[in-house]
Amino acid sequence: MRARVVYESMFGNTAAVAEAIAEGLREHADVEVVPVAAAAEVPAPKVHLLVVGGPTRTFRLSRRRTRRDAAKRTDALIADIGVREWLEAALPVPRGHTAIAFATKPAGQSWLPGSTARGIGKRLRRLGYSLADDPMDFLLEDSTGPPGPGELERARAWAARIAHTELDRISHPDCRHRNDARDQRLDQWAPPADDRGRAVPPHGRKSR
Ligand SMILES: Cc1cc2nc3c(=O)[nH]c(=O)nc-3n(C[C@H](O)[C@H](O)[C@H](O)COP(=O)(O)O)c2cc1C
Repeated sequence: MRARVVYESMFGNTAAVAEAIAEGLREHADVEVVPVAAAAEVPAPKVHLLVVGGPTRTFRLSRRRTRRDAAKRTDALIADIGVREWLEAALPVPRGHTAIAFATKPAGQSWLPGSTARGIGKRLRRLGYSLADDPMDFLLEDSTGPPGPGELERARAWAARIAHTELDRISHPDCRHRNDARDQRLDQWAPPADDRGRAVPPHGRKSR
């Protein structure tokens, strides 16, 4: 299985989470980790699982203005392109492509509204990807980091679990049909009823 992790980061925290995710994926996949500016310069390779992550800036995905604000607190260069612009320029994919989304935000501000992870997930779905899991936030000790206690391990474990499930799905494509058929059988199942249509418990009626 091939996976690609594309991320945006100015203070280095989303990059650290992206690397932890890549480590988790590597238990089951060949993985490439690419900063979004580099991803924008090459045609997207075909992968089984695309992972996209970015920092939360003013409640959502960064824009050039919020990247400029962030740049006042670091020596990092202001990138022309963030995950928002990269996804806006991305081409739709045919059915069957899978992705997951993540973001970073300070733990102390988790009450703030908006979710970059959900925003990325929404854009990926619009492009035609199905999401292999709910978009995920990873928490930082402060705005400039570092990642909170246990968060990199959580990222690693999250990715390993998803990679395991995806590998299983790819290796056993026919199981999906078996599951569909089973779900259909469950949908059609009706509880046993007596001759007046009243439900009968599995072991029959209690005698009085
Ligand atoms: C300009 C700016 C705006 C931010 N806005 C938010 C916000 O709305 N909600 C939030 O939880 N964190 C916010 N943060 C904190 C960022 O989420 C945090 O800096 C980011 O996750 C760090 O990622 P990075 O190290 O990969 O750059 C903001 C930070 C900056 C610099």
